[in-house]
Amino acid sequence: MTTAIRAKITAVGTYVPPRVLTNADLEKMVDTTDEWIMERVGIRERHLVDKGVAASDLAVEAVKNLLASHPFDLQEVELIVVGTVTPDMMYPSTACLVQHKLGIKNTWGFDVSAGCSGFLYALNAGVKFIESGQYKKVLVIGSDVNSSMTDFTDRAVCIIFGDGAGAVLLEPASSDGEGIIDHVAQIEGMGGEFLFMPGGGSLNPASHETVDQKMHYIHQDGKNVFKYAVKKMSEMTERILERNQLSGQDVDCFIAHQANRRIITATADRLGMPLEKVIINIDRYGNTTAGTIPLAMRTALEEGKLKKGDLLLIAAVGAGFTSGATLVRWAF
Ligand code: COA
Repeated sequence: MTTAIRAKITAVGTYVPPRVLTNADLEKMVDTTDEWIMERVGIRERHLVDKGVAASDLAVEAVKNLLASHPFDLQEVELIVVGTVTPDMMYPSTACLVQHKLGIKNTWGFDVSAGCSGFLYALNAGVKFIESGQYKKVLVIGSDVNSSMTDFTDRAVCIIFGDGAGAVLLEPASSDGEGIIDHVAQIEGMGGEFLFMPGGGSLNPASHETVDQKMHYIHQDGKNVFKYAVKKMSEMTERILERNQLSGQDVDCFIAHQANRRIITATADRLGMPLEKVIINIDRYGNTTAGTIPLAMRTALEEGKLKKGDLLLIAAVGAGFTSGATLVRWAF
């Protein structure tokens, strides 16, 4: 837990595509209502890409927005880690495409596939490189184009997801106490049957048959995912607080993966955390998979709910199942 060098987040940039799909729009596409979606999930609208826009494009825009708020020489970036389950293509990695589009010369990178925990897992991987002492600037990105694998005739799925991206810059922390304090994570592969995309991989390579059977879409057992998410989000947050001798009262700001408003508030409740400390923007963006946590960081900063010195608790649960939590002493 204690390392000589700590990593800190020094900048955040986000991007969502301009096109908005509202609940009213969805009412015209499937048998649903604004009231049902708001009550059961908490989403009012989500942003979707236009044809030809991919995860790397959203990622690049997020990095450009990060640069606008925190100018620095991009050529100093030594590593790019991208969390995504909707890469532009099976290969090359989205990290390679982002590197090329941004023209960063002396860097390397890779993608992390961890469903809705993708950003958190990418963040924790990036942190370890900073903590090694060999890296001074790491870009961690979460980017997903969920509309590329959404069946817009499946009302239980198409209401939930949106497209979006976010990026953070990791650098060594200069003062004691600031930065990424600790993280916990766990994968439980039995969850694979509840949330998955069966087509297009080596098991079911794309064919007319896989497309006819809608195997290139998100398959979800919402009820089981919901139950697991509520249980695991609490378990991970309690575990990380306990092993750092902290309680929910010590946390200044709580950012949970935005999958369902009820999952977030149930976790906050369990931690005894008042809603003012909980960041919720799922109403505006829906579930953007690896995009939600940096998008929520941006919301927290804009709303003045995350300030230098604050103790930030981040938690995520996603397909896999994957889960994790991270504790941060916010540094700017
Ligand atoms: N509009 C209206 N009714 C809908 C609907 C929609 N968009 N989607 C499902 N329903 C219906 C169901 O058909 C069902 O009808 P029935 O009772 O006649 O069979 C009823 O609503 C209740 O369905 P249920 O699946 O029990 O609803 P729910 O309260 O569990 O909510 C989810 C469904 C998907 C919103 C919820 O389970 C969920 O959020 N799960 C987690 C999903 C998730 O987070 N995925 C990403 C993981 S990171």
